[in-house]
Amino acid sequence: SARLVVLVSGAGSNLAALLAAHDVPAYGARVVGVVSDRPGIRGLELAQDAGIPTAVVSLKEFPDRAAWDEALTEAVAVFSPDYVVAAGFMKLVGAPFHARFGGRMLNTHPALLPSFPGAHGVRDALAYGVKVSGCSVIVVDEGVDSGPIVAQVPVVVEDADDEASLHERIKVAERALLVDVVGRVAREGLVVEGRRARIGR
Ligand code: GAR
Repeated sequence: SARLVVLVSGAGSNLAALLAAHDVPAYGARVVGVVSDRPGIRGLELAQDAGIPTAVVSLKEFPDRAAWDEALTEAVAVFSPDYVVAAGFMKLVGAPFHARFGGRMLNTHPALLPSFPGAHGVRDALAYGVKVSGCSVIVVDEGVDSGPIVAQVPVVVEDADDEASLHERIKVAERALLVDVVGRVAREGLVVEGRRARIGR
């Protein structure tokens, strides 16, 4: 089955969903390593509880971003992943990472891209006043949430929503979408043609 490395920066609920799915051999993918840019987060605990090896590569432990980028790339590369999944990873990866894993890295985002990219997709969608938001799984490219879209699910915004309540509902849809897409990509492959991505060979 396909080897996955999952990148996390926080709660790790998307990671937890992948860990719940990967025990079934028919899923076609298994998490072989979890890498974080921050120590002490719940995502790392979840991985450790599941017996998955982890690594932490903190930006502040490196002289500059380029050195961090090399270290992050190496920390992921030691697991020899077929695919890298950013699941709530809140940093942009740099040139060495793209050179190594470009076209094989997925990211999940809590908005319907290309609307509301960046670190505050839920807040920005709410502030704009959209009535429908959702989640997107994309192929990571050099930009901020600008890569080809693999799959999206809409989530209706309610009048009473605040950022937390909307994010919670989006995350329910997001976990299901991510588990589905990662499994299908692992089993069937991923093709990127220009801006358009599709699952298949
Ligand atoms: C998820 O909603 C993910 O889409 C978002 O952070 C959350 C992480 O939750 N990522 C971004 O906003 C990236 N720009 P989790 O740690 O519980 O999986």
